[in-house]
Amino acid sequence: MAGRIPQKFLDDLLDRVDIVEVVDRRVKLKKTGKNYSARCPFHEEKTPSFSVNPEKQFYYCFGCGAGGNALGFVMDYENVDFPQAVDTLAGSLGLQVPREQSRGGPAQAAREDSNKALYALLEQAARYYQLQLRKHPQAQRAVSYLKQRGLTGQIAKAFDLGFAPPGWDNLLQALGNSEEQRKLLLDAGMLVQNDAGRSYDRFRDRVVFPIRDQRGRIIAFGGRVLGDDKPKYLNSPETRIFSKGRELYGLYQARQANRKLERILVVEGYMDVIALAQHGISNATATLGTATSATHLERLYRLAPEVVFCFDGDDAGRKAAFRALEAALPCMEDGRQARFLFLAEGEDPDTLVRNTGADRFRELVTAATPLERFLFDAVSQGLDTSTLDGRARLSKQALPYIRQLPDGVFRQLMFRALAERTGLTVAELMHLEAPPPAPAEPAPSGDEHTAATSPRQRSATADARRGYSNLAQAAIALLLHKPGIASLADPAPLAELDGPDVVLLRELLDLLQRRPDSNTAMLLGHWYGSPEGELLGRLAGQERLIPTDGIEQQFIDTMGALAQLPQRSQLHAQVDKLKLTNYAEVSEFEKQQLRELLQQKQRLDLARSKRKP
Ligand code: UTP
Ligand code: MN
Repeated sequence: MAGRIPQKFLDDLLDRVDIVEVVDRRVKLKKTGKNYSARCPFHEEKTPSFSVNPEKQFYYCFGCGAGGNALGFVMDYENVDFPQAVDTLAGSLGLQVPREQSRGGPAQAAREDSNKALYALLEQAARYYQLQLRKHPQAQRAVSYLKQRGLTGQIAKAFDLGFAPPGWDNLLQALGNSEEQRKLLLDAGMLVQNDAGRSYDRFRDRVVFPIRDQRGRIIAFGGRVLGDDKPKYLNSPETRIFSKGRELYGLYQARQANRKLERILVVEGYMDVIALAQHGISNATATLGTATSATHLERLYRLAPEVVFCFDGDDAGRKAAFRALEAALPCMEDGRQARFLFLAEGEDPDTLVRNTGADRFRELVTAATPLERFLFDAVSQGLDTSTLDGRARLSKQALPYIRQLPDGVFRQLMFRALAERTGLTVAELMHLEAPPPAPAEPAPSGDEHTAATSPRQRSATADARRGYSNLAQAAIALLLHKPGIASLADPAPLAELDGPDVVLLRELLDLLQRRPDSNTAMLLGHWYGSPEGELLGRLAGQERLIPTDGIEQQFIDTMGALAQLPQRSQLHAQVDKLKLTNYAEVSEFEKQQLRELLQQKQRLDLARSKRKP
């Protein structure tokens, strides 16, 4: 499969297929008003909340939030990747899929080619190791090791487990038959080079675990010793196709085993993933010896609404869990859930499932601690919340975390929960000075002028940014509903704002300027499979929030409000600065300035509240 599929072809394809037909061929649809509906194929439900909009050519489920265009539907329903879905739809129209030279020119094409060679080589390596597990004279040692850990041949096959035999150059001899191949083996991290420049096999006398990316390509290996030698596990180094901060072991297999993932488990080790699969729990993934990153989580939440982390019950486990919680906070959009399962000391998912069985393990997962409880427990540790002082401390410690939640009902609920626990009102909480979540810095000296960089001001900027985000999302929702209105807006003032939603809005406007005829499905298609695509899908589904008429005016107003924001947030900062300075020490001139600023702010707020229905 050479080259990219031209965007023009994708647009044409989406223009020619009818999503109603595409879905109806797979899930029987019923006409309900101007839309079609069915029980959602992506989650269990009794009453239909899955709806297909023929006019805008996209689908959306109000139950689980799944949504997208015809291509996305085929990808999710048939569990195939993007090029495969394009092939399927093109095939149904009798079209041939064209390919273009890589956009980046010859250099990029060469890189893609050499990556292709890397993938092919790693596939070969995996097959070589699998063969050794069956045929090598010493294979029995590896086979008994796996058996003794409770694994059957079937599960070993499902995870493509292999055996790297003892010896310095088995793989090198088997696959390194040209200078080019040896260079590739080195690039892939399969060989290690010593100081004298001699190369030898990285994995020796170990059980090996091929690591696959989301598309199923082998990108790296892990290897475990058969006994108690050190190091117990060895992993491929980072290469141009393998980055530990992004990949999750077992995710590909989990997606293969489940049409729709309702929940994904994050465990610590390769063997935990495999042992769980052996017991029929096929939704576990493991980070690769690194902490869970926001990238990991974004990837997981794109596939399932709930993530359950399993950690050891010891101190290290709690620390790791708290780091995972910190990474999860910015991802906790409404509809997403995170839970934490703490195991007894000395126990891991592998031993637990083997000792107590899958049913008990499932029960424990279902009863795992929700993010909100874990957060409050963690930040109130050592505090006596029956005292006023304890409650004030609690709010100071909890706020920096709650503030990291994205806008939405969950964030509101967390503020309310904190209010209940502290006896403060939500409004009071919002105005509390919150220390940054980083390890406490030494308290600043009594110098009042440090107020200019106080945490409160930092949070004022954060609030301003959330302001952009709300407005930007509103503008995006309107654009998705009626792409033609793009020409009504002047995108120039957006250049002064930052934040991902504003960037997305800018890109949308830009795209619509270049291709004014794009419809909703095409817009969704451009971002499919990215976090932006998910946001677009969700916003496109929010039809209820779109007024039936006056869309044009609302769009113009929203864009206008956005354009005023930089001015507003500057004002905020100035007002805050003046207010925070001890009033008595402020000069007459500054007092006058403050009064003027406050009046100006009031006028702006008033204008804004009039504009907003
Ligand atoms: P654990 O030591 O908890 O592994 O490390 P485990 O899965 O329970 O091991 P066994 O096989 O049951 O004894 C968890 C993960 O940390 C990484 C590996 O990714 C491992 O799966 N790790 C651990 C290493 O990279 N190197 C090591 O030496 C140990
Ligand atoms: Mn273990």
